Amino acid sequence: MSYYTTAPITSVRKENYRVNTLELDCSMPGAKPGQFVMVWLPGMDEKPFCIVNAVPLRLSIAAVGSFSKKLAAFKAGDKLSIRGPFGKGFWLEPSYKSVLLVGGGYGVAALNFLAEQCLAAGITPVMVIGARTKDDAIFENEFTRMGIEAFVSTDDGSAGFKGRPHELAEKLISDGSKFDCIYACGPEKMMEAVAKVALAHDLPSQLALERYMGCGIGVCGKCDAGGGLVCKQGPVFTGVESLKLAEFGKCHRDTMGHKKEW
Ligand SMILES: Cc1cc2nc3c(=O)[nH]c(=O)nc-3n(C[C@H](O)[C@H](O)[C@H](O)COP(=O)(O)OP(=O)(O)OC[C@H]3O[C@@H](n4cnc5c(N)ncnc54)[C@H](O)[C@@H]3O)c2cc1C
Ligand code: FES
Repeated sequence: MSYYTTAPITSVRKENYRVNTLELDCSMPGAKPGQFVMVWLPGMDEKPFCIVNAVPLRLSIAAVGSFSKKLAAFKAGDKLSIRGPFGKGFWLEPSYKSVLLVGGGYGVAALNFLAEQCLAAGITPVMVIGARTKDDAIFENEFTRMGIEAFVSTDDGSAGFKGRPHELAEKLISDGSKFDCIYACGPEKMMEAVAKVALAHDLPSQLALERYMGCGIGVCGKCDAGGGLVCKQGPVFTGVESLKLAEFGKCHRDTMGHKKEW
């Protein structure tokens, strides 16, 4: 059997002006929310993408650079080569009754998969959909369709709560909502702020980190976040673990391994 799965895209759904969700004619039944696949575009590169749905496999792609713009423009019938699932995903504890999911940008899509698993486990998820403006918000209809309470926060106040996603998380908790854990996926500065909100309220948190990746399987060392390989020990780390990583919230590395500030 090939190490890669090559499967045709069965449909493409436009989430907003720059995010497309690709559904593939293949499944990863054992995959967990927070895990990722490596997508290979021959002649270009190979990059990691969160599993948004395992059966069938769905990936949500934000078109930001050359690789993702090419991928987001794929059409139904085009074929993709992928390998995975890789990494450590989010986990749920049997004692949890209600959890808060905080997503920023395309990170919201990966939390949709976690929300489904919460419902299957009898845990009530509450969703914060963080976006810069109302045009950036994604997946609100998905959460509503699943019967999940979803709150939108926008940086400019063009929809929902005006402010950052962690500020809305703080408000929900201060207003009396009870959560057993906070999960976050999105820009690193947002996740750092969410981890601090969780700590301030004595709550556990789990964050899905991102780093430039080469191999995706713990061999090349390119995804080191300053004390942890994101592809192998992560991408999901607890908030406490993340805050101990030397580069978390401070910098990341480019393809050449040079440090870049967030
Ligand atoms: C574990 C993991 C999971 C990931 N899951 C997803 C996913 O589900 N969906 C997805 O779209 N991407 C995901 N990524 C990011 C993805 O792997 C690529 O890094 C991303 O698509 C950009 O690659 P690029 O070559 O197109 O752009 P690059 O050439 O790397 O970047 C081009 C420009 O865009 C900027 N940029 C990069 N990312 C963003 C961003 N998110 N928002 C705004 N500007 C940005 C860069 O700073 C740069 O200026 C994930 C990364 C990791 C490590
Ligand atoms: S990407 Fe190679 S070790 Fe993580």
